[in-house]
Amino acid sequence: MAAAPAELSIVVPTYNESGNVEEVVRRVDAALAGVAWEVIFVDDDSPDGTAFAVRRLGQTDARVRSLRRIGRRGLSSACVEGMLASNARFIAVMDADLQHDPAVLPTMLRILRDDAAELVVGSRYIQGASVGEWSSRRLAVSRFAAALSTFIMHQPISDPMSGYFMLKTEILDACVRKLSTLGFKILMDIVSSSGRALRIAEVPIRFGSRRAGQSKLSGNVIWEHLLLIADKLVGAYVPVRFLSFALIGAAGAIVHFLTLITLFRLLGVPFPVGQAGATAVALIFNFSVNNVLTYTGQTLRGWSWIRGLASFALACGIGALANVGVASFLYGRNTPWQLSALAGIALSAVWNYAVTARYTWRTVRQ
Ligand code: GDD
Ligand code: MN
Repeated sequence: MAAAPAELSIVVPTYNESGNVEEVVRRVDAALAGVAWEVIFVDDDSPDGTAFAVRRLGQTDARVRSLRRIGRRGLSSACVEGMLASNARFIAVMDADLQHDPAVLPTMLRILRDDAAELVVGSRYIQGASVGEWSSRRLAVSRFAAALSTFIMHQPISDPMSGYFMLKTEILDACVRKLSTLGFKILMDIVSSSGRALRIAEVPIRFGSRRAGQSKLSGNVIWEHLLLIADKLVGAYVPVRFLSFALIGAAGAIVHFLTLITLFRLLGVPFPVGQAGATAVALIFNFSVNNVLTYTGQTLRGWSWIRGLASFALACGIGALANVGVASFLYGRNTPWQLSALAGIALSAVWNYAVTARYTWRTVRQ
C-alpha cells in the first residue's frame, strides 16, 4: 500500500536556521493535527548545516523533506523550487524563524478547502494583525515598498510583502514561467505574474520576533525591490541585472569626475596621474557597489573580493580597449563624434556586464 499523500506542502526557505527547524516541525505538527501535511525545507547550503539538521529530522519523520541547493542564493527562487517539488493540492510558504505562527495554517487551509479563495495571504496590515517589534524605520521601508508595488499589481492587497501565504497548486502552475524569482518578494511576483485577478483572501497575522539566528534581509532590500518592479515593467526587453549594472556604471562616471576634480583641480596633481587615480577609484566604486546591489545573492567577501576586483579590472580594461577601438573606427568612417562615443560606451557596457557576470560573480541562472 502506498503511503497517504500530503494534502498540504509547507515550503520553508532556510539560510542558517539550524536552531529553528526542529521547533518549526514541532509547531506545524501541533497546529495541523488531522491534516496530511509535509514540510519542504529549501536550504541554500547554509554554512551552519541547516540541511543536515533537516535530514536528521527527516530520518525519523517522512513528512519532513529537504531540498538543498548548491552554489545558489535567493529567497524567491528557493520558494519557487520548493513549491515545484510538491505534489499536494495546497502549498504554503512560511519563514523558518517562527516570525510566522504555524497556528494560522488551519485557517488558511479551511479557506482554500471551502474554495472561498484560491490564494490566502497572511497580512500584517489588516484588523487584528500586528508587526510585532519592528523599528519605525523598518515599518516605513515596508510601507514604502508596499506603495511602490501597486504599480505592478493588478489588484490591491494590504500586505504584498508578506512572506506567509497559501495557495492552490494551479495558481503556481499558471504563472511559474513568468516569475522573475528575483529578490525576496515571491508573493508579489505571483500576484503580478498571474495575468488575471486572483480570488484572494487575507487573514491577519502577528509578525512575531525571530526565534534564533539573524535576519538575512539587509539594507539593499529596497534596491532589490526596485529591480523586481523594473523587471515586471521592462524585463521582457532588458535584463534588469544589466539595468542595475548600467545605472551603477553611470554613477561611477560621476565618481570619476568628482575624484578627478579633487585631484587635478583642487590638489594640483598632474592630469595623467589624476585621471589614473580617478579611473582606479571609479573601478573600485563600480565593483563594490555591483557586488552588493547587482549581485546581492553572490556578494564576494574576503579573498574572493580581491580576486573579484582583479578579474573585474581585467574585464573592464579589455572593455575600455574595445570601446576606444570601435569609437575610433566609427569616427574614422564619418560617424559624428557623439554617436561614435556612445557606440563605444554601449559596447563596453555590454561586454563588461557579460564578462563579469560570468567570470567575476560566476552567475549561473538564478
Ligand atoms: N533558501 C534561502 N535562500 N532562504 C533564505 C534566503 C536565501 O537566500 N534568505 C533568507 N532566507 C530564509 C530565512 O532563513 C528565513 O527562513 C526566511 O527566508 C525569511 O528571512 P529573514 O531573514 O527572516 O527575513 P525577514 O524576517 O527580515 O523578512 C521577512 O519579512 C519580509 C517583509 O518585511 C520575510 O518574511 C520576507 O519574505 C518578507 O518580505
Ligand atoms: Mn525573519
